[in-house]
Amino acid sequence: MRVGLAYDLKEDVNLEISSPQDALEEYDSSETVELIETALKSAGHSVVRLGGGAEFLSNILRERVDLVFNIAEGRGNYVSREAQVPSVLEMLDIPYSGSSPQCLAICLDKPLSKKLAIATGVPTPQWCLIDNLEQLSEVSWNGLAFPAIIKPACEGSSKGIRVSSVVSGPAEAAETISQLLKCYRQPMMVEEFIPGDEVTVGIIGNAPPTVLGMMRILPRNRADCFVYSLEIKRDYLNLVSYECPARLEEEVLARIATASLKAFTALGCRDFARLDFRVSPEGIPYFLEINPLPGLGTHSDLVIMALKLGWRYEELIDAVLRAAVKRHAQHVPIR
Ligand SMILES: Nc1ncnc2c1ncn2[C@@H]1O[C@H](COP(=O)(O)OP(=O)(O)OP(=O)(O)O)[C@@H](O)[C@H]1O
Ligand SMILES: [Mg+2]
Repeated sequence: MRVGLAYDLKEDVNLEISSPQDALEEYDSSETVELIETALKSAGHSVVRLGGGAEFLSNILRERVDLVFNIAEGRGNYVSREAQVPSVLEMLDIPYSGSSPQCLAICLDKPLSKKLAIATGVPTPQWCLIDNLEQLSEVSWNGLAFPAIIKPACEGSSKGIRVSSVVSGPAEAAETISQLLKCYRQPMMVEEFIPGDEVTVGIIGNAPPTVLGMMRILPRNRADCFVYSLEIKRDYLNLVSYECPARLEEEVLARIATASLKAFTALGCRDFARLDFRVSPEGIPYFLEINPLPGLGTHSDLVIMALKLGWRYEELIDAVLRAAVKRHAQHVPIR
């Protein structure tokens, strides 16, 4: 096949002076693009680099490709940015890997995806949303559980999430929210902090999707309120260890797997995704969020998980591509 590769490199994205210092966190490096290209070539495909943004638009109109392998995060501070490339591909009727524009837009919106998770019976921590400084001044803190974690409503890659994001009471919460509202220019979530194990789950395939693996993320230094924060993700080799398969009770693992597949299906995900959970001391997995466009760099959780399970990197890329090809061949019309 002639496969197009859509991606957004950190160095290709223009920042505004007011952008937060982690604004480029979700974008890819040229090493990741090279790895995917090599993997696709080793499976016998030819690869056309399409890039992202306006460059992607001119390339996709010029090049003939059978399918686009999409890892483009999209441009701008828009909640639907991950939907940009798939939307253009649907307009041009070109097959692509991964989820639909609708799914990608919903899943970047954490409050919305949590509501859909609840509707399908998947537990998620309680939260409230604060849109602006005016709302912050009027909020009633009664009924909100502390400690809580403050998170931007529509981000990924731990943008806006630091060790200091866990707050012990209303005064600390108000201070943190007010700083983050100014910096990230979007609503902030105040979410009940769930102590206990952090587990991330990889899903692959369609009809039916299957659990690739469940990986526990363990802090190397004891922490009362461990957060897999930006500081930790940037220095993951020193600060965390990864346990895959996760050594948890069978019953807990079964609950996590069931919740993952339910959320994957309810949110309309396709081909692959990664979900994050915290498991309460009572063994209840709480859904934090789902990533229908999970990172595929060597430092990314899905890749670490697959390698720990004995997959080769090329096999992971091939599995995603094959899921997309099979789905298109079966002409699954919706989602
Ligand atoms: N309610 C919570 N209780 C406990 N820890 C939490 C909670 N919400 C978030 N965290 C911690 O913060 C981390 C980042 O949160 P989350 O997964 O929502 O952010 P993200 O930026 O979308 O992550 P990703 O890098 O996976 O895209 C989690 O992995 C977890 O360690
Ligand atoms: Mg996460």
